[in-house]
Amino acid sequence: MIISIPKETIAGETRVAATPETVKKFIALGLEVSVESKAGLAAGFSDDVYLKAGAKICSSSDEFFRSADIILAINAPEADKIKLCKNGAVIVAHFNVKQNKDSLGYLAQKSLTCLALDLIPRISRAQSMDVLSSQSNLAGYKAVIKAVDEIRRAVPFMITAGGTVPPAKVLVLGAGVAGLQAIATAKRLGAQVFASDVRAAAKEQVESLGAKFLVVDVEENLESDGGYAKEASKEYQQRQKELVAKQLSQTDIAITTALIPGKKAPILITNEMLKNMPDGAVVVDLASASGGNVEGVKDGQSTQIFGVKVIGYSQAVCDLAQTASELFARNVYNFVSTYWNKELKSFDWHLEDEIIKAACFIDNGEMK
Ligand code: NAI
Repeated sequence: MIISIPKETIAGETRVAATPETVKKFIALGLEVSVESKAGLAAGFSDDVYLKAGAKICSSSDEFFRSADIILAINAPEADKIKLCKNGAVIVAHFNVKQNKDSLGYLAQKSLTCLALDLIPRISRAQSMDVLSSQSNLAGYKAVIKAVDEIRRAVPFMITAGGTVPPAKVLVLGAGVAGLQAIATAKRLGAQVFASDVRAAAKEQVESLGAKFLVVDVEENLESDGGYAKEASKEYQQRQKELVAKQLSQTDIAITTALIPGKKAPILITNEMLKNMPDGAVVVDLASASGGNVEGVKDGQSTQIFGVKVIGYSQAVCDLAQTASELFARNVYNFVSTYWNKELKSFDWHLEDEIIKAACFIDNGEMK
C-alpha cells in the first residue's frame, strides 16, 4: 500500500501534506511512502530529509500518480494527473467542497474515493483531525503580524524620552478560531483589542482574552447546530454596521475573519467606513477568498482605499508554510491512521463511520 505525497501545483501554495515526522509514523504502521520530488521544498523539507525518514522520492510526476494507492494532498490534484491514477485510488485533501462543489466533478472517475478534510465533523473524536482549526489558528496569528508589519505606528503603550505612545487599537470581526487567535496575538503585542461576532457564545471567549466585545442589541440566535454562524437579519446587520462604523473611526488595525459556511462572506466594512478610519490604518481580510468582509478587497493583493491599506490575505498560512504543514500533516496522519488495519494491512473506510460518512463526497467514482 503506497501513501503518496504530491508536490502542490496551485499558484502560491507552499504547504505539503506530510512531513518527515508523519512519514516516519506511516512507515511504522507498515506503509510505504512515496514523495514527489521537491514536494516539501517550499515548506522547508528537502527531498533528503524525506529520504532519511524512509520515504522514496519520485522524480517523474506521471509515474508518481500512476503508482499511488492513497494520495495525501493539501489541494485537489489537477485533472491531467487524475487521469493517470489507478482505479480505486483514494485521495485525502482539503477539497473545500462547500465552496467548490461545481468544479470537483472531474474527480468522479476511475472508481476514485475522495475524502474531504474540510467535511470532517467537529465532534470530539475528530478534534485531532481538524485542519480547519489548525490552519485558521495560524492564519489569525499571521494576520496580526502582517498588519503590524505594514502599519507605520508602534503597537504597545510605551513611555519614552520623546513622550508616551498610546496602545494601538485593534478591531477583530469574527471571533471564531482565527479571530480568537488574532485577539490573543494582538493582546500579547500590547494592543487595545475590540471584537464582534454574531454568535452570542463568542462574547465570553473574547472577554476571557482581555478584549472588549461589541454587543449588538438585537435578540437573535445566529448560531447553527454545528456551531457555525447563520446569516443575520437586516435589522441585526444594520445595528452591527453602526457599531462597527463607530469603532472603526478610531481603529488602527482591523482583522476580518467572518465566514458563513457555503455562502459568500458578509461585507462588514464598507467604503464609507474605510473613509472614516484614521489615515495609515491597515485592514487585513482573511475572508478575501470567499468574497471578503471588506468592500473592494482583492484577494492576494494590497489595495489603498482612501487612507487605508486593505490586504486580502487568504494565503496567510502559506506564509507560515513550515508550521502550517506540520499541523496539517499531523491532522492528516490522525485521520488516515484511524482507519488502517495493521493486521489486515489495509484501510477500512467504512461508510457507517460518522467521520467517513461526512468526509466521503466521492465514493468509488460516484459523487454523493
Ligand atoms: P468560521 O471560520 O466559519 O467563521 C469565523 C467566525 O466568523 C465565526 O465565529 C462566525 O460566527 C463569525 N461570523 C460569521 N458571520 C459574521 C458576521 N456577520 N459578523 C461577525 N462575525 C461573523 O468559523 P470557525 O472559526 O471555524 O468556528 C466556528 C465555530 O466552531 C466556533 O463556535 C468554534 O468554537 C467552533 N469550533 C468547534 C470545534 C470543535 O468542536 N472541534 C473546533 C473548531 C471550532
